[in-house]
Amino acid sequence: MKESLISVSKVTVALPGASLQRACKFLVVFCALHLSVVLIYYLSGANFDILQYFRRNQQSQLGYAQNYTISNGKLTAEISTIAKEELKNCPKTSPLLLGPQNIVFSIHVDLEDIRKTNPDVTEGGCYRPKNCKALQKVAIIIPFRNRDDHLKYWLHYMHPILQRQQLDYGVYVINQDGEKTFNRAKLLNIGYVESLKEYAYDCFVFSDVDLIPMDDRNTYTCFSQPRHLSAAMDKFGFGLPYNQYFGGVSALSMKQFLKINGFPNNYWGWGGEDDDIYNRIASRDMYISRPDTLTGRCRMIRHNKDNKNDPNPQRFDLLAHTRQTMNSDGINSLSYKVVSTKKFPLYTYITVDIGLPPS
Ligand code: BGC
Repeated sequence: MKESLISVSKVTVALPGASLQRACKFLVVFCALHLSVVLIYYLSGANFDILQYFRRNQQSQLGYAQNYTISNGKLTAEISTIAKEELKNCPKTSPLLLGPQNIVFSIHVDLEDIRKTNPDVTEGGCYRPKNCKALQKVAIIIPFRNRDDHLKYWLHYMHPILQRQQLDYGVYVINQDGEKTFNRAKLLNIGYVESLKEYAYDCFVFSDVDLIPMDDRNTYTCFSQPRHLSAAMDKFGFGLPYNQYFGGVSALSMKQFLKINGFPNNYWGWGGEDDDIYNRIASRDMYISRPDTLTGRCRMIRHNKDNKNDPNPQRFDLLAHTRQTMNSDGINSLSYKVVSTKKFPLYTYITVDIGLPPS
């Protein structure tokens, strides 16, 4: 029998030719197997986000698509029979609305209780009506830092209201990483971009975490003009501090938001950014629509001033130049890094590094 000789230093090993061939074959098969396992894991991981996006968007078009699988790197959706029946549009005014409601912040609220009492809210704080097709897909965006207690009240009151309003919605809490100067409008811009990565939202509600409407007829949707939803805050004696006031809670359709190049990124600290947004809207020949002062009533949670959110001394100067700066400062110049995204049962929590104010 023919033999191969391999000599290593002084040791001489004799391998029969057939054994060497078998060993090589085994090695090749083993490597191929290993490679395919790694590839399958990689592909299923990489497809995860796409899968979620696909799942929510597909459901909204078809009703209920079920059983999504990935096999051989292909996404397959088995659509059940009910999915083929188009859901009728929800009515313009939801029949589930209750009208004025009492809002208090002295009660105890618990996340687990909120979850149990809102069983139809799905992971990440999403909901869509079961029996009709919502008229709008609404991303609710909350700029955030260190306000967990306020967020609990917001979730406690808002999930039931938004469901009664028959909205197809998702809740995005945009948390500013670190303890440096806060930038509300930049966080709102980020919420717009990040929410769109998940779902084809067409309306964006930008809400402070400490504001709750006192009447569910104040619908958190978009209108033919940018909407100011917190039109009568208790803090301002259930009125407006001035006519151009656009702070608190507002709603813009995608078209309206893009028409003003989103919001400014350069307002660091408290104040002015909402006035800048007002200026942008006015400069694009749009106007503010509002609910009447009874329906638009809302309560704010009283709290101490936030750390690192002192009044911005530059705001007056910035405000004087909105028309000149708005084309270059906005959604088209937004830059940030996502630090983490967490899907909680009642909301999606995105922590972002937004950088520092220019020195
Ligand atoms: C600020 C706004 C603020 C409003 C009401 C204005 O002076 O510029 O940002 O929302 O006061 O407090």
